[in-house]
Amino acid sequence: MHIEINRSGGGQTLPLQISGTIAERITSGLLQPGARLPSVRGLALSLKVSQVTVSKAYADLEARGHILCSQGRGCYVAQREQNVRGRGAGWQDSYDDYLPRAQLWRNFDVSEVEYPFHLAAIHSSLLPLAPIGATMASLVREQPELMASYGNFQGDAELREVMRQHLQSRGIPLGSGDLMITSGSQQGIDLVARTFVGPGDTVYLEAPSYTGAIDVFAGRGAEMVFVPMDGDGMRVDKLTAMCDRKPPKLIYTNPTYQNPSGATMSLTRRQRLLELARSYRCLIVEDDPFSDLYFRQPPPPSIKSMDTEGHVVYMKSFSKVLAPGSRIACVAAGGNILSRLIAAKSASDLGSPLLTQRAVLPFIARKYDDYAANLRNALRLRQESAAKLLKRYAPPGVSWQLPGGGLNLWLELPPAAEIGRLHVLAKQEGISFLPGNVCYAGDKPSRHIRLCYSQLTSEGMERGLRQFLLLLERYLQPPD
Ligand SMILES: Cc1ncc(COP(=O)(O)O)c(C=O)c1O
Repeated sequence: MHIEINRSGGGQTLPLQISGTIAERITSGLLQPGARLPSVRGLALSLKVSQVTVSKAYADLEARGHILCSQGRGCYVAQREQNVRGRGAGWQDSYDDYLPRAQLWRNFDVSEVEYPFHLAAIHSSLLPLAPIGATMASLVREQPELMASYGNFQGDAELREVMRQHLQSRGIPLGSGDLMITSGSQQGIDLVARTFVGPGDTVYLEAPSYTGAIDVFAGRGAEMVFVPMDGDGMRVDKLTAMCDRKPPKLIYTNPTYQNPSGATMSLTRRQRLLELARSYRCLIVEDDPFSDLYFRQPPPPSIKSMDTEGHVVYMKSFSKVLAPGSRIACVAAGGNILSRLIAAKSASDLGSPLLTQRAVLPFIARKYDDYAANLRNALRLRQESAAKLLKRYAPPGVSWQLPGGGLNLWLELPPAAEIGRLHVLAKQEGISFLPGNVCYAGDKPSRHIRLCYSQLTSEGMERGLRQFLLLLERYLQPPD
């Protein structure tokens, strides 16, 4: 079993690093109930650690209910649900991979639940699918040759010009050569990680952070260090002290209506973060899918808008707000940081599909700002009705803050709540949420859950949220 170990410590003991990685493989479904773990001796030999270290890791996993160990028989993944595995496929369990969390997607299968609150998305009735679809249909009819061409690795020149104007209107002045089109910002994060992050490099992230980014950095073998947050976003004062001990290779932040916490970084912290990146000569990845989705006043200016020396790789996803299936985002960066990212993009997929790039182009160029104003209004109404339901039905001990925009609520549950169990019960009622522990590396326990209020119709959201809060009340009730 391959487990990336950081022997310099990284803030975690070796047993906890080992148990954390195995726990992730179990919760993500990669290691199935009943699967046998390697023997203590075998794992100790393959990881070049002592048997005591592995025994401690297994004891930790057993204490957390992930595995069962018995004298003579060894350790097995605990049964949670009946699992049927194809015969003869057992060898796959020990076939090494380098994507420790990549099976988490199994937890998020939308088809299984009626109320998929776990998904940070916008309901199709709010998206401009008709105009984008009409452009797509006419492109297929009138310019089928678009499908016969690879296009430019950096992205379609016309779309890049539209993106340039868009970013300029948001206070980010660039040339159209200073940005590239990617398949969603998820690909942007992946390209940055593949290009600039290697095993053992220190990557700082907010605690909690976007799961998709954690997956990418974990896959690169980075040492991820999580920086505490408060209502003003990442605690840059704490980050500064942490960087003194461990200089950053890269800082990943989602500063506006952060996924999952909803917090927005203050202007002062944005300025300080940029100063920090300057003094450490490192990159900041500013992931910004939500800044157009403000409900009261616009958020502070982006960090990129203040960046004069090319420290910020800025990602603006249009997939989230327009059409996730179009997979369109733009990545803005300076100098040879961008040219190296374009090289990575060419190695990754030889460029994004021309058809989807051209399909969103007229909408972004001419209709986006009016659309975004209406979307903000619709999302604000959803958040208001979610807030009313929470006020009325949330049981005592459950707390939350209302973010100034975005798609999510981050609820803190009382210490008695066992979130894994609640997740199973909610699923039985057709409801899903994102358990907070996946927003940290290493299966750190969390008392939070993320609920998205925008991926259902407003009636569906109200029905589902009420049902969930009633379930939560029953679940938290002390037994008689
Ligand atoms: C903070 C953040 N970044 C990136 C993404 C990826 O979005 P996409 O690849 O669709 O642009 C998401 C999706 O949920 C997100 O929440």
